[in-house]
Amino acid sequence: MTAAIECAGVSKGFPGVRALDDVSLTVRPGTVHALLGENGAGKSTLIRILTGAERPDTGTVHIGGVPLRQHTPAAARRLGVRVLPQERHVAPDLSVGHNVLLDSLPRTALRTVSARRVQERAQQHLDALGVDLDARARAGDLTAAQQQLVELARTTARPAAVVVLDEPTASLAGDEVTVLFRVVRQLRDAGTALLYISHHLHEVFALADEATVLRNGRLVHRTPVAETDHDSLLRHIFDRDVAHVRLPRRPLPADAPVVLAARQVALPGGHRPLDVEVRAGEVLALSGPAGAGASELAACLAGVRTPAGGRVELGGARLGSRTAAARAGVGFVPADRKRDALLLERAIAENLLVGPAGRGALHRPVAARRTAWAALRAGRVKADDPGRPVRTLSGGNQQRVVFSRWLLAECRVLVLDQPTAGVDVGAKFDIYAQLLDLAAEGVAVVVVSSDYEEICALADRVLVLRDGDLVAEVDGAAATPDGLFALETAPTPEETAA
Ligand SMILES: Nc1ncnc2c1ncn2[C@@H]1O[C@H](COP(=O)(O)OP(=O)(O)OP(=O)(O)O)[C@@H](O)[C@H]1O
Ligand SMILES: [Mg+2]
Repeated sequence: MTAAIECAGVSKGFPGVRALDDVSLTVRPGTVHALLGENGAGKSTLIRILTGAERPDTGTVHIGGVPLRQHTPAAARRLGVRVLPQERHVAPDLSVGHNVLLDSLPRTALRTVSARRVQERAQQHLDALGVDLDARARAGDLTAAQQQLVELARTTARPAAVVVLDEPTASLAGDEVTVLFRVVRQLRDAGTALLYISHHLHEVFALADEATVLRNGRLVHRTPVAETDHDSLLRHIFDRDVAHVRLPRRPLPADAPVVLAARQVALPGGHRPLDVEVRAGEVLALSGPAGAGASELAACLAGVRTPAGGRVELGGARLGSRTAAARAGVGFVPADRKRDALLLERAIAENLLVGPAGRGALHRPVAARRTAWAALRAGRVKADDPGRPVRTLSGGNQQRVVFSRWLLAECRVLVLDQPTAGVDVGAKFDIYAQLLDLAAEGVAVVVVSSDYEEICALADRVLVLRDGDLVAEVDGAAATPDGLFALETAPTPEETAA
């Protein structure tokens, strides 16, 4: 059978790095092939070459037996290649429907066909996929997870020979992951070849037929999934043992003062305003499906969003603007790092230091570089030179820059929305350990996460949200992944009463 994807001897260098070194890969039609490797291993670079976004230095790519001669996205699309890229690309001002059909309609049709017809057609596709979204909604108003589903619908709006998914679940939670898995299996059964990148190995075992591991740009392992296990894959990915340590829990002192408080804060869709207090040294987790209000509440607590009603207080005083919050020592790691947290064209060093404590350092380039080198040496960001634009870092390393910024800034409160999205398993445990260290030093930490394991590893207390209301409060020590899932999906008091 002709391979759906066949790349042979592919190499690609960037200044200072050999991103890919003589990589050959074959994917058969009707199979799911997992592409694994730590942050910076070369996964996205290989994807960009397969999808025509980047030209290899050497090597060839064949799609369905036909050579990809012109290395352009249009040429790859003509051969039937579709990609869901690592970073979100919805057009915020267009409707969901227009975004879904963006690649399927001729450009002129988007202007000449009535909005209603576009949206009707897109709605049919969304319904067929089982994606619960309104095609008429404005895409920019959706959460990161919902935008991800819009992009999934766009990627699958037309039949494809090859579908490439670069970390599709990085910002998805329970039900949305179920939708994604169903779509992947539908495509596979229809004969599409899928290349699937993920840092979540359980997804590999649930979906993939074969797995390939890249390390430092080289292909180091290839195996049928049925013939391997979790630990073996981890060893190939990291070439060292990754600690599965149960992180030590320290009891929260009974007299820890309240640092941050939401008073009568109203969330979109909620029936009752919320009161939330966070104490010094506490890790508070906010859990809930997309649209539940966890991200909104976190943004209010971080002072980057003004609540529709009520107020947020830091140390008893009302939290003002975003800049005032940052100056008062409130750090924020947003879910969409590329849009909200990084200056992509600016140096890694500058991006590490745009936090409040680093403000002065920006005017002292020597000090800035020294601090940045320290962060790089500590292994928190994998890069060879802090002077390079942050855009040239791999996705997971960009996330680590945003996180490290607030470690350098010495904040009083740190609010994080999906702190380990796109981060490899090794670095994830480092981030957990660092967050718990911060808490032990008295920092109040608020974490929004769609990863129940993450919540259970970190939280002193968990608030579960649904449709803008608080539906449960759980002691972190008693929280389990299954228990949180049950709470998120149980009927709300309003639903029970109805
Ligand atoms: N445009 C570029 N300029 C310079 N270096 C680049 C560029 N694009 C990628 N790199 C480098 O190539 C290497 C591989 O990056 P790539 O994005 O392929 O990693 P990845 O495996 O997708 O990692 P992640 O899991 O973090 O997404 C990294 O060292 C990265 O910094
Ligand atoms: Mg990547």
